[in-house]
Amino acid sequence: MNLIQRPRRLRGSETLRKMVRETRMDKSSLIYPLFVMEGTNIQEEIPSMEGQFRYSIDRLPYKLEQLAKAGVGSVMLFGIPDHKDEVGSGAYATDGIVQKALREAKKQFPDLYYVTDVCMCEYTSHGHCGVLCGHDVDNDKTLDLLAKTALSHVEAGADMVAPSDMMDGRVAAIRACLDENGHNTTPIMSYAVKYASAFYGPFRDAAGSAPAFGDRRSYQMDFHNRREGMKEALTDIEEGADIIMVKPALSYLDMVSEISKAVNVPVAAYSVSGEYAMVKAAAKMGWIDEERIIGEMAVGAYRAGAQIYITYFAEEIAKLMDEGRIG
Ligand code: PBG
Repeated sequence: MNLIQRPRRLRGSETLRKMVRETRMDKSSLIYPLFVMEGTNIQEEIPSMEGQFRYSIDRLPYKLEQLAKAGVGSVMLFGIPDHKDEVGSGAYATDGIVQKALREAKKQFPDLYYVTDVCMCEYTSHGHCGVLCGHDVDNDKTLDLLAKTALSHVEAGADMVAPSDMMDGRVAAIRACLDENGHNTTPIMSYAVKYASAFYGPFRDAAGSAPAFGDRRSYQMDFHNRREGMKEALTDIEEGADIIMVKPALSYLDMVSEISKAVNVPVAAYSVSGEYAMVKAAAKMGWIDEERIIGEMAVGAYRAGAQIYITYFAEEIAKLMDEGRIG
């Protein structure tokens, strides 16, 4: 056959395949989500997220050390408070769980990079991401509390804040509050393109943050919508977001791709708890090759255009990269 185009030529050996690889992963772009809780000497496995744990503050250093050793330099902290109330006061308390964990972690591992999730749902008795007015979340009243939460995180040592509540105007509110308090160099990574998704199920088990009534569809986005995702991303950039996140990752790579082409800020993809749980469950059944699936999911996010990948598999990915098994 007289074929001019033979794409297989570049697939002939591992060396060549690696040479022409279009997407390369780098550990420095991984962020590992971590759950901290009150109490002492607790490392509790999350039933729906095998291999993921809730840590009391005194047990956190062991995990941070493992991550640092594996080369995962960034974590994202989620707090599980003992006490919840109508207004989520634990979210912005000086001695709130995230604030205390940050002070301790920063002391022991100052070189790690600490991102915090800014939201109210883990702290409100009703499990919604803001304060209520009747059965609806009151957008504008929530903004002050989110800004207060972000400020309290930064004052406790957070290097970056990541609002995940999906209230309108939260990036502007947080930016203004941080700036007024002398933190104009602290970046905001906005969960801008966050869909109302069943993929968050295991996280809500982990954090005890499922809404007591109703759902989050009046603030998180309808997953049928693509253009609306772009509107959220552009709005948040106008409000001062430094990084835009798309969440979940797996079923939303079209959004990662489109947004990364349209904006000039870094784009992060968050591979959420349900994605992790599906891989773990299928692997346990012996139905998939876990290691290869982890690699494909991660590379898929980067290939779509993500520059940052937030994943519960961060440590495994880093180790597999060291061993040259994925990359
Ligand atoms: C808080 C928040 C959630 C997640 C990140 N921040 C839960 C939710 O919106 O219900 C989900 C993360 C995951 O599923 O891994 N609002």
